[in-house]
This record gives sequence, structure tokens and C-alpha cells, in this order.
Amino acid sequence: MNVSYHGHSVVKIETNGTTILIDPFITGNANTDLDAGSVQADVIILTHGHGDHVGDTVDIAKRNHALVIAAPELSDLLGWEGVRTHPMSIGGAYTFDFGKVKLTQAFHSSSYVNPESKTIIYTGMPAGILFTAEGKTIYHAGDTGLFYDMKVIGERNKIDLAFLPIGDNHTMGPEDAAIATEWLQAKQVVPIHFNTFPFIKQDPHSFTSLLEEGIGVVLQPGEAICLPVIKDARGESPHSSTPALS
Ligand code: NI
Ligand code: MN
Repeated sequence: MNVSYHGHSVVKIETNGTTILIDPFITGNANTDLDAGSVQADVIILTHGHGDHVGDTVDIAKRNHALVIAAPELSDLLGWEGVRTHPMSIGGAYTFDFGKVKLTQAFHSSSYVNPESKTIIYTGMPAGILFTAEGKTIYHAGDTGLFYDMKVIGERNKIDLAFLPIGDNHTMGPEDAAIATEWLQAKQVVPIHFNTFPFIKQDPHSFTSLLEEGIGVVLQPGEAICLPVIKDARGESPHSSTPALS
């Protein structure tokens, strides 16, 4: 399984011949290597309805005829725009032919904002994602503050790789994300949701330096982790001294 990071909260998972995009915010994302007009996806999973997560979902889904997995309200909204959707709620899991998806809670909000009509449309509960395929489990926390049930998520799932927000202001900052890492017992953690906007300016190494050696991995946009071996998109190891390579 190949898992790559593409700036902000954008994660791409390639497994069993299926390409999955999580929160494909590309247009307006200065930190991404992806091109909204050509990116390929079979499946899109959304953590919540904010613009910096839904991003280019409608265009990408229509062009690729991709399936969009999201909270029921967000799923309805996207369905009305002509997108093929699969609604899911927190605590529920569904096994697709490419892997198992389960949504977890996230402490945040979730809405579409329309500045022209000055309306805010509710898009359901924000969520985190547990994705399991090929015997590996990935956790994408979405946007969330620290919550103690992360301990339960860690106890009930063997997380191989976690993507945690560290930007602070709207989500956990580095210190809370370090506590989350401990509670989740994740083997590897990649910081996300930082530096895209002034409010979330953060040095990702201020997070990874709080972790046990070898757990935190700062990925540049376009870099990938091949589970179980760490390597970048060119197949070279950016962290050749990490224990996870063994
Ligand atoms: Ni958000
Ligand atoms: Mn966000």
C-alpha cells in the first residue's frame, strides 16, 4: 500500500488497484503538488464539509466518476451536485471492495459557507477516518481537538500510520498532537493541517521532536510512505535511520 501526502490534509492511498483521496483541497492550496484538473481518484473520503477539505471534490469526482464517502448531510449536498455518494456516520464501518472504512468522532464543526447569500449550511458531524486494507490500518484524524477517546481508538485498532493535525487554532497544536500520538499508539505519525494559512503556521519538527525517535515523519507534498517500508515517491528512504525500516 502506498500512502502519500499532498499538503494541508490531503492524503492519497493506493491499494488493491484503487486510488483513494482524502480531503482533496487542491485549488487554493499553495502547499500541494497535485493538479486539480488531472488528479485521478476512484474514491474520495471527506472528513467534514469545510472548504479546505471538500476542496475540488465535485470536479474530481465528476471527471473520474469517483465514489464520495461522507457524512449523510454532506453526502446529500454533493449528491444534488451530481456526485455518486456513499453516506456514513460516526461509529459505523463498511467494507468496500478496496478496504474497510470506519468514521470516528472529531471535535470540530462542519459546514458550507456561502458569503454571497451570507448563509451557512450544516454538513453533518465532522469525523476522523480509520481505513484498513492489506492488513494495515491508517487513521486520518480530520480536523479535531484532542479528545480522550483517542485512547480507545488506539486500544481497539492497531494503527500503522496516523495523520494528525498540528496547526493549532482550529485543531490540535503540536503538544496536544504529541499526546494524541501516545494515546493512539500509532507506529508512525505524519503531521498535517499546518502552514497553509497564517493562523496555522507551525514548524512540523516542533511536533516530531516531542515524539519517541522514529515515530514522527514529516512528509513534503508528494512524498509517500510505502507500508510497511518508508520511502518517498522515488522509492528512496528519507529517514534511513528510523527503526520502522527494519
Ligand atoms: Ni475544518
Ligand atoms: Mn480545516
